Amino acid sequence: AGDATPPALSLGRLGTLRVGEPRSFHYPDARSPCLLIRMGMPTEGGVGPNQDVVAFSQLCTHMGCPVSYESGLRLLQCPCHYTTFDPERGGAMVCGQASTDLPRIDLRHDSKTDIITATGVNGRIFGRL
Ligand code: FES
Repeated sequence: AGDATPPALSLGRLGTLRVGEPRSFHYPDARSPCLLIRMGMPTEGGVGPNQDVVAFSQLCTHMGCPVSYESGLRLLQCPCHYTTFDPERGGAMVCGQASTDLPRIDLRHDSKTDIITATGVNGRIFGRL
């Protein structure tokens, strides 16, 4: 079924993630690049002791180019037609060509092991039904 929950994926320890330096991963499968970002301050939907770790699909919702994180601006930007998304507002589109927000990846943080796990996708990843 289309709404089946994808299997959880370990993304490593939160303690190894530096503020403003995203970590790439693929979820829910190898064709879907995503970015794990430690924002450095409490963020909507964030996990971890500071609730500052979030993740998004890297595929721009306009035409599927990979967005990158601009740490100075604290925004995700698409190099193709300059659509900008805000990771502090759940991936909301700020301006540009796309018509939908960037899909947010559900995360879980285990305070005992410090492991972050991807557990689901919120929104429609570019190119998928
Ligand atoms: Fe990202 Fe067009 S593909 S703005």
